[in-house]
Amino acid sequence: MRCCIVYSSCSGNTRTLALALARGTDIPCLAVRQAPDPQAFDLLALGFWVRKGAPDARSQRYMARVRGKRVFLFGTLGAWPDSPQAQRCTRIAHDLLAEGGNKVLDVFLSQGRVNPRVLAATQRKGTHTLTRERLLRLREAERHPDATDCLAARLCWQRALDSARHSFEHLAPV
Ligand SMILES: Cc1cc2nc3c(=O)[nH]c(=O)nc-3n(C[C@H](O)[C@H](O)[C@H](O)COP(=O)(O)O)c2cc1C
Repeated sequence: MRCCIVYSSCSGNTRTLALALARGTDIPCLAVRQAPDPQAFDLLALGFWVRKGAPDARSQRYMARVRGKRVFLFGTLGAWPDSPQAQRCTRIAHDLLAEGGNKVLDVFLSQGRVNPRVLAATQRKGTHTLTRERLLRLREAERHPDATDCLAARLCWQRALDSARHSFEHLAPV
């Protein structure tokens, strides 16, 4: 079974998760800019970061090219991974992949440190009020993705790999 990890990352958080998935394996781990042809693989782990309430544009463009594959989704965001915003991002990615007849095996999201310059800009513009809740959430985001996130992502990916291998060996393609 041919696998590949493809990630989009602006400030390195999603890349950290991608490298954690690849560690100790010979599975290629490539930035989406390197644009490996998705058709060359049976299973793809696709990583995105959240920009303005949606998966970043580069990852969305890549997802739109993927057809008839098994996919493991992962990503990082400033919001809580179980927040309505996170769920919305997952749904956008899911819908995009479903259009191409892909099967999403699992999804893993973690918080990721928000670039302080971006935060400072939102403060200057006054677009996001720094409430106590937001401040606490951003402080927590500063520590992520951490070793626990990387381990959890690896376990989730390992399960997806096992299930895909099983289907690949015993069943028809997606
Ligand atoms: C321009 C910009 C917009 C962002 N918009 C959101 C957002 O709408 N929701 C959110 O939860 N996080 C948002 N973030 C935070 C990033 O999703 C988070 O820091 C992520 O971990 C970045 O991943 P990366 O380091 O792989 O680029 C934004 C960050 C930037 C730089």
